Amino acid sequence: MKEPVCVTVTGAAGQISYSLIFRIASGEMLGLDQPIVLKLLEITPALGALRGVTMELDDSAFPLLRKIIYTDDAEIGFKDSDFALLVGARPRGKGMERKDLLEANANIFSVQGRTINKVASREIKILVVGNPANTNALILAKNAPDIDSKQITAMTRLDHNRSLTQLAQKLDSPITKIKHAAIWGNHSSTQYPDLHHCSVDGIPALSLVDNEWYVNHMIPSVQQRGATIIKARGSSSAASAANAAIMHMKDWVHGSQDNDWVSMGVISDGSYEIEHGLVYSFPCICRDGEWNIVKNLKINVFSRQRMTASELELIEERDAVSHLFT
Ligand code: NAD
Ligand code: LMR
Repeated sequence: MKEPVCVTVTGAAGQISYSLIFRIASGEMLGLDQPIVLKLLEITPALGALRGVTMELDDSAFPLLRKIIYTDDAEIGFKDSDFALLVGARPRGKGMERKDLLEANANIFSVQGRTINKVASREIKILVVGNPANTNALILAKNAPDIDSKQITAMTRLDHNRSLTQLAQKLDSPITKIKHAAIWGNHSSTQYPDLHHCSVDGIPALSLVDNEWYVNHMIPSVQQRGATIIKARGSSSAASAANAAIMHMKDWVHGSQDNDWVSMGVISDGSYEIEHGLVYSFPCICRDGEWNIVKNLKINVFSRQRMTASELELIEERDAVSHLFT
């Protein structure tokens, strides 16, 4: 057995966390040989509900779960944290875009960035789930200057998974046959689900579907899937978001399966001429605990237009919160 690691989850009494925390505690994220100390962070009014979650964790008797700390004090919540899943933030309601949450949620990430900078492990791996995830991750990075910005990521894995399923259902193919799908840009309705490099059982995906379906059905339905779920459920996706968070962290730590691509919101290094420093979703390969952007892909005019549209939206979001950058 390894030494225990510290995993922090914020928004721990919320909807996503109710799926997420139990899967982390079971070992699904970090492996069945990795003992865990769980640190659960909430705002004060939610501590009663969070206490109920900790009782249920106790009652699950997870063999890997060494200790649970639950708190409304961010310094305690992030102290020596090795992994942090930042879920705590307001979700959007019907008729809102995710960027409408910027004002309500941005401040959370500047405060948490400063706290992480002060007390967390220098090797911490961070996933921002709370929306608007890309720009919240950027705010966090700007407020945590002593943490390598490669350790701060935003979640677009849910969009990636949505793309895989759309294609798999269209072709009646197992998901496992689909390789090299990609989400570029923002976790928003400007995101670009790209099938130009994608194959299904070795055959180029775009030769198997008609262009009309790809452009007028698949792309918009992935872009709008979050809103469609809110309309149907009355609240935003929760179990599928938790699942995507588990897959994101698991692949980052243990490597992406069969060297396939995964989509991650990461700090742009200027690849594909995307503005340096934005948190932008790229196709990545994870290996040895690191992610790397897939390089040298050919980008046609169709893709470039969509990649730029999402980049421009992220620039707008960045400029709207630049007062929070230290
Ligand atoms: P929820 O309202 O059920 O839970 C959020 C929790 O965060 C609440 O319990 C709240 O008390 C807590 N919280 C608020 N401020 C906090 C703070 N400063 N510190 C700690 N906790 C705090 O919401 P949810 O459905 O779990 O969604 C959480 C966030 O995740 C939302 O912003 C939602 O839009 C986002 N989301 C992102 C994706 C993605 O793909 N990136 C997918 C689904 C949802
Ligand atoms: C999603 O994609 O389901 C989440 O980001 C929730 C939302 O607001 O759409």
